[in-house]
Order: sequence, then C-alpha cells, then structure tokens
Amino acid sequence: MSPPAARRRSQFIDAVIDDYAAAHSTPPDAHQLELQRVTLEKTGRAAGMQIGDDQAVLMEMIVRAMGATRAVEIGTFTGYSALAVARGLGPGGRLLCCDVSQEWTSIARQAWQDAGVADRIELRVGPGLETLRSLPPGEQFDFAFIDADKTGYAQYYEEVLTRLRPGGLILLDNMLQGGRVTGDLVDDESVAAIRSINDAIAADPRVKVVLIPVGDGVSFVQKLGDRQ
Ligand SMILES: C[S@@+](CC[C@H](N)C(=O)[O-])C[C@H]1O[C@@H](n2cnc3c(N)ncnc32)[C@H](O)[C@@H]1O
Repeated sequence: MSPPAARRRSQFIDAVIDDYAAAHSTPPDAHQLELQRVTLEKTGRAAGMQIGDDQAVLMEMIVRAMGATRAVEIGTFTGYSALAVARGLGPGGRLLCCDVSQEWTSIARQAWQDAGVADRIELRVGPGLETLRSLPPGEQFDFAFIDADKTGYAQYYEEVLTRLRPGGLILLDNMLQGGRVTGDLVDDESVAAIRSINDAIAADPRVKVVLIPVGDGVSFVQKLGDRQ
C-alpha cells in the first residue's frame, strides 16, 4: 500500500509544483518504502508523523556535506528520519536516538537492521530530556534533529545547543504547525510552545536560523563560533 500522499509533500507549496519537485528528487529506496509500509500497517494514522521523503533526502545530504560523525535525534518514532541521518554520517559516525516508545522504536530497530545502519545507532528509550542530561559533560554533537513533544522543544534546544560544536546544526521539525503559528485565535499548547521557541531562536545571538517551509516547517539553526 502506498503511504498517504499528504505525508510526502510540503503543506505550504502548490501541489503541482510539489509533484514536479518530487519527480525531480531522489526517491525513497526499497528500505525506506518498506519502513513507510510497515509503519502505516502497524501504527495507522500515527504514520503521518514520519518526515517526508524530500526532508529525508535533504537531511541525509546535509549530514554528509557537513562530514558529521556525532548526531542526536529527539523523537525517533519508527526510525525514518534516523535512517536518513545515519546514512549521511561519515566513517565511524554515531547517532544517538531518544524516544519514549518501546513499541514504535522496535519497528525502527528492525528497519535499521534491514538497511545495514544498526551498528551506527544507539537508541535510548525514555524521556529525551533525561537522556540528554545524563550524557557525559564532554559529549559533543555536529548535528541534531528535534522532532518530539512540542512543549519540550525549548529545553531540548538549550540542552543540545550547549553540546553542539561551533558551526554545527540543529534542525527542528513542525515549526509552522500547519500554519497555525501565524493565527491569533489558537488555543493549543503545542502551537503556543512553537511560537515561543520560534521567537526565542530568532532573537538568539548564539545562532543563525532559517525557517524553511518544507514539510510542516523546519528551522535550520547554526551555532556561531566566538569570531562570528
Ligand atoms: C513526530 S514523531 C517523530 C517522527 C520521526 N522523527 C520520523 O521522522 O519518523 C514524535 C516522537 O516523539 C516521541 N516523544 C514524545 N515525547 C517524548 C519525550 N518526552 N522524549 C522523547 N521522545 C518523545 C514520540 O514517542 C514519537 O515517536
């Protein structure tokens, strides 16, 4: 069965343009398609939480272009975004994945095994904030992806930023909340949390940020060095 079309595309780009862009981008391979199929079969509507195919290609390319070898993900679900990041890692690279769900991450473990990237990934099941705070003080990252509970983003951002090397990147997902971040009448704690972190990051002198309307909006945050 094909995954729902809406999951694959940006919510903010004209459908005709988006189809054209998809037709001229690297498509998901057999392992990615199988993971999408299994996720839909086993999790139903929750499958819509997977990042889109375009975002997966983009993340894999960025991780590879950076020469990243140390990466962290908060919010792994069934492992689709982690598969993209793991594939982009340089030799000896490691990805730390954090998620609270044993059930969903068991699907991820199988998919990583099948795709031949399991040896690069360490999965910790438990609250992401606790996992981040338990890391040794010297643990540093080149790349981070934040895609878990939206009310936790501000704390994940701070924890990850302190451990990011200068020049490193944090990507944060769902930063447009289906467009609801721009409305006045929204009474939703996730939207409120995302508005707040968007404002905070835009005013943060430690970083440069660009919020791109791919998927549900992805913020690319780069940590600046002392001379930048
Ligand atoms: C949007 S999904 C992640 C999708 C995934 N990045 C992908 O592309 O397939 C959000 C995930 O965050 C996890 N999550 C929710 N609260 C969490 C927490 N406090 N710590 C870690 N993970 C959490 C959920 O279990 C869920 O799997």
